Amino acid sequence: MPTTLPHLKDWTFTVDFEGIAWGVIDRKGENMNSLGRRTTEELGEIVKAVEAAPAGEIKGLVLISAKESSFIAGADIREFGGFDTEDKIKDVVKQTLELLDRIERLPVPVVAAIHGYCLGGGLELALACDWRIADREEGTRLGFPEVKLGIFPGLNGTVRSIQLAGPMDAMTAMLTGKMLRPTAARAMGLVDQLVPTRHNLRWAARKAVLQKRRSKGAPWWKKLMMKQPVRGLLAKQMRAKTAEKVREEHYPAPFRLIDLFERYGDDPARMRKAETEMFAPLMASETSRNLRRVFKLSEMLKDAAPKDGFKPRKVHVIGAGTMGGDIAAWCVVSGMQASLQDLDSEQIKKALARAKGLFKKRLRSKTAVDAAVARLIPDPEGKHLKHADVVIEAIVEKLDVKQTLFAELEKKAKPGAVLATNTSSLKLEDIAKKLADPGRLVGLHFFNPVAQLPLVEVVRGEGTRDEEVRKACAFVTAIDKLPLIVKSCPGFLVNRVLAPYMMQAVRLYQEGQPREKIDQAALKFGMPMGPMELMDMVGLDICNKVGEELSLGPKGAGQTDNVLATLVKQGKLGKKTGEGFYVWVDGKPKRDQTSYDDAELQRLGRELIKPLLDEAERAAADKIVEGEDHVDAGVIFGTGFAPFRGGPLHHRRSENSAVSDKAAA
Ligand code: NAI
Repeated sequence: MPTTLPHLKDWTFTVDFEGIAWGVIDRKGENMNSLGRRTTEELGEIVKAVEAAPAGEIKGLVLISAKESSFIAGADIREFGGFDTEDKIKDVVKQTLELLDRIERLPVPVVAAIHGYCLGGGLELALACDWRIADREEGTRLGFPEVKLGIFPGLNGTVRSIQLAGPMDAMTAMLTGKMLRPTAARAMGLVDQLVPTRHNLRWAARKAVLQKRRSKGAPWWKKLMMKQPVRGLLAKQMRAKTAEKVREEHYPAPFRLIDLFERYGDDPARMRKAETEMFAPLMASETSRNLRRVFKLSEMLKDAAPKDGFKPRKVHVIGAGTMGGDIAAWCVVSGMQASLQDLDSEQIKKALARAKGLFKKRLRSKTAVDAAVARLIPDPEGKHLKHADVVIEAIVEKLDVKQTLFAELEKKAKPGAVLATNTSSLKLEDIAKKLADPGRLVGLHFFNPVAQLPLVEVVRGEGTRDEEVRKACAFVTAIDKLPLIVKSCPGFLVNRVLAPYMMQAVRLYQEGQPREKIDQAALKFGMPMGPMELMDMVGLDICNKVGEELSLGPKGAGQTDNVLATLVKQGKLGKKTGEGFYVWVDGKPKRDQTSYDDAELQRLGRELIKPLLDEAERAAADKIVEGEDHVDAGVIFGTGFAPFRGGPLHHRRSENSAVSDKAAA
């Protein structure tokens, strides 16, 4: 019997003096472990070695990771490209399923010792083990993020999680894709034991093997929920709840998962088979391909940031209004210290109160909230400026005021600190004019609301040094946002592409289309919110200004006569004044409940979205960002553009090829 398998690349395998076999995963050259083809094959060799051991020689097998931040963070998405037909998918799935079944059948106890991310396929592997131990460290998270990629767990994770955690908890975890803290995973039964830190894992795993620990599975009262009629009722509830969040026509995966549970929830053997049958078409679908593309686009944006070097910890924000206050609060949520300066100390006060709300929402414990409150420093006189690694200006949009401010800031900021402006319409080159070192200025264009939109445009002026752009990208990733490098040009990328779409909505409204119908058409296309509602939320004054700056707005009626400008003149600025396109009551727009014909909404949706697609093409041609994928990434993460369509340019390419396929046929 081999006690080591020295040729393995992704794993090490050893049997210690007590007869405990250790399978340690550590994929070379990767920050995180994922389940790729080789990783799975090598795991097969480990299982084979344990199977082949003479009785009594191996007491048990422990699967553990050597990485800092992951057990196994999921299947290796880079290898998904080859899975383009249902048959190929079923073939690969079958092999892995057999391996997990062999693990489950091993006569000795198998323990998963979990530290860091244990997600997707990684969690499915852990569920095939007899006993799961996780540490309570902050970075340890378990979950099924598959729905975000347009699929559901396909390695019998649906069956095993329901058997272990019961239908309510397991289905909620799979339907939402949320990452669970170890304590939550333990409470629901996905994990059997918790230890304080990763250093306790090996010892606990050793004991679990020697004591032959095996999970008992869900308690009887949870098992009752797998039976009819409770199961049918649960499925109905889940369907209604899911439909509140996503449309089945856009995101079918969660709905197929509910079907699977409803049909086979009390018959694990049939559910296992049906899982693969229902998984394969989802995996081969265009929706899933596009969602995988979106994931890769987010990774591409993160790659713009240098992995080492600039490590910002302190931020100084000037201007505590809508944007500055929220930017500072967001930085604090991400663990940084932020000082907040404003001419008007009332503004700072308001920003601090808003920030506390965010801290309470985002941070779990009172201690964490208190620590965050302490890290957000009111600084009306700018005393902390000289200590900051990043200085962000978010004051009024007036060139001369910004120029004067930056001339001051440059003298006081520490050498090497990033000097950034959050301007949305002024040219970086103009703002930098009064600086002794204009190459230092970079744009950091955040979106409103800061906490919700994942993108930040990193604006490169003509003279901005590469080094400053890189540092700005490092800062953006350090606050868990996605940096998109964009040239200093009107509207940058996101507003440039979004504005023609908004103005098209205004034009259609002016031509007599009801506002509700326009909004419904956008939702039908897959936008997160209709443009009329969105404009009311942003503020019609701001929308009108952007439209004018970019020389947009309904033609023919004359710029000043369009309905948007008229509403602004009447002081109807949207949600903030209680009326814009809609009347707003208790923070919600009052809508007419008419429902419109599906085909008509689809047609209107195409008309509405066309200017956005056209502008995205022009932006790509003008090379304002690095490439076409960057345009798609910016528009998806900056506007929420229907992710399942893969981005505006990708969507147009798919539409064009569908049209030419039709013509050829
Ligand atoms: P705001 O009007 O809400 O806040 C500006 C704040 O700056 C006010 O509190 C004001 O007292 C303060 N201020 C003005 N001059 C100052 C000075 N010299 N020193 C210190 N504080 C000063 O404005 P908002 O909306 O937050 O915009 C700020 C910047 O962000 C602008 O450049 C704007 O174009 C940009 N922006 C705004 C977005 C939005 O949706 N509101 C989105 C993206 C960028």
